[in-house]
Amino acid sequence: MIESQSKESIVRQRYAAGAKKRGEKLCCPVDYGSEYLKVIPREVIERDYGCGDPSRYLRDGETVLDLGSGTGKICFIAAQIVGPNGKVIGVDMTNEMLEVARRNAPVVAERIGYANVEFRKGRIQDLALDLEKLDHELKKKPITDAASFLRADELAEELRVKHPLIATDSIDVVVSSCVLNLVEPRSKPQLFDEIFRVLKKGGRAVISDIVSDEVVPEELQNDPELWSGCISGALTEEGFLVAFEKAGFYGIQILKRDVRPWRMVEGIEFRSVTIEAFKGKQGECFERNQAVIYRGPFKEVLDDDNHRMERGKRYAVCDKTYNLYKKAPYRARFEFVDPLVEVPLDQAKPFDCLRTALRHPKETKGQNYDATTEADNRCCDGGSCC
Ligand SMILES: C[S@@+](CC[C@H](N)C(=O)[O-])C[C@H]1O[C@@H](n2cnc3c(N)ncnc32)[C@H](O)[C@@H]1O
Repeated sequence: MIESQSKESIVRQRYAAGAKKRGEKLCCPVDYGSEYLKVIPREVIERDYGCGDPSRYLRDGETVLDLGSGTGKICFIAAQIVGPNGKVIGVDMTNEMLEVARRNAPVVAERIGYANVEFRKGRIQDLALDLEKLDHELKKKPITDAASFLRADELAEELRVKHPLIATDSIDVVVSSCVLNLVEPRSKPQLFDEIFRVLKKGGRAVISDIVSDEVVPEELQNDPELWSGCISGALTEEGFLVAFEKAGFYGIQILKRDVRPWRMVEGIEFRSVTIEAFKGKQGECFERNQAVIYRGPFKEVLDDDNHRMERGKRYAVCDKTYNLYKKAPYRARFEFVDPLVEVPLDQAKPFDCLRTALRHPKETKGQNYDATTEADNRCCDGGSCC
């Protein structure tokens, strides 16, 4: 039986050793874009403990946070994709991993011609607490008794507020490869809340991790070797997506799912998935007479705000939903119907978001609209439509 705290210590020990010497059996092999690997030093590439490549979903100019960055491989790939106008921050709790990553950052910077990567020490379930700042303060005021322990607790809280390791609403994309499963069960809800907190509105998480096809029984969860080897802490395929939903994300989808399990333990399949989840469905809803039509192919869909829509029907939506659907991951699935007369945002009334209602074309055009026109030749390539 291992206690929660010792799970984290076991993980730290295992990856401290893995930073010094390539550890076998730590997560599964991944194909990275070979063009990005050329500038990354061998010791970084050799210590690859990832299970997927979220970096391939990044774009130029983005600010990226890599959770559990290890020796920095995903960060160094991301640095090249986001370019000199982008920024990459790696967070890890293991000193030995940070040491390898930080030592190699200037080497990569010199080879690509710019420095846009930094590595910070923290626990990914507590992204506000800068562990190096806390170390520094505790050296000045060591914990020697209960009173100083309580003072240290207050100090940590003050650091979270005044000097957060990762500020709220500051990141475009949170990525991670094979780390979330290593966080102890009681901290997992806080971990997903933290990912949500640090993302900007409109930002997204792209996470590769190991998931299981069945719930992992307690005796496997208490096996230290399996825990630190990315097995026992795996959420189920369904539970992984639900965790993002519970934290307030929307538009959650599986980008990649390995058909072949990476490992099987006592009949349970463990495989790598990469998922994407968006932040930004929260906010006020205003009525601007807009409508959307779900294009299909499914007969009906239900979004993360419980809007249920049948294919081909014209639904009234609020301005917020309308604009969310105009962006990824929904854009290609909808047609957008603007009212004939625009309702300015500052004159718009509150919209009842809980109601899903059809919007009659007369509402879009206005009750008295009665135009009659000649056929529009632009839609017929010069021939006849009918
Ligand atoms: C399986 S390795 C993956 C490393 C890296 N993402 C890669 O692709 O090679 C897990 C990494 O996450 C770090 N880690 C595990 N749990 C963590 C936590 N709660 N907070 C911060 N780092 C953590 C470990 O120190 C280790 O570097």
